[in-house]
Amino acid sequence: MDKRGIARRARRGLAAAALMWTGVGYAALPPVLAQAVARGAHIFKDDSFGSHVRPVANAASAFADMGSSPVHARFMTCAVCHVHGGLTRGVLADGRHIPSLRNAAAVFPRYSAKSHRIVTLEDQIQHCVKDGIKGRPPAFQGATMVDLVSYLKSLAAGQRMAIGGAFK
Ligand code: HEC
Repeated sequence: MDKRGIARRARRGLAAAALMWTGVGYAALPPVLAQAVARGAHIFKDDSFGSHVRPVANAASAFADMGSSPVHARFMTCAVCHVHGGLTRGVLADGRHIPSLRNAAAVFPRYSAKSHRIVTLEDQIQHCVKDGIKGRPPAFQGATMVDLVSYLKSLAAGQRMAIGGAFK
């Protein structure tokens, strides 16, 4: 592909990401599913799962980045660590980076050698709520889990399925 082609593709990718983030890109989904994705995005950004842990000060820049104010998320949410709705790599309070969630839904389940078990996407979400947010993890089959999984799947739409694979 020539340079212009690459630039065109990059622009299209960015436009798609912007559409996804605003929810417009779900027009093709059945409305009920699109609503689950939209609720998932909302939970991802705003739900603290009952936690009263406040994001540390330097996470404020991440909020500014995603167009949300620190006041908006008084307590920990997914978005504090997984900035930009999970579309770009995340950042922890100590400045360490974590992979984006672009293809997370396509690489689970994974095997954890540390805990000698298979970790599903739902396990990972529960883990992040328990240890990252310090909140009450959503039930496996509950509506909140369904919405979050729907949202993460929407981020991974079009990504290569790679069970047990690497994160982007
Ligand atoms: C305090 C920071 C923090 C918060 C808050 C957080 N996570 Fe994570 N998340 C991580 C870290 C660090 C990893 C990397 C793997 C690990 O240590 O579990 C991760 C990994 C993941 C992964 C697997 C992809 C990867 O990069 O390993 C998914 C999916 C995920 N998080 C979803 C969520 C969701 C959904 C929420 C909100 C319910 C959330 N996370 C909240 C820190 C966080």
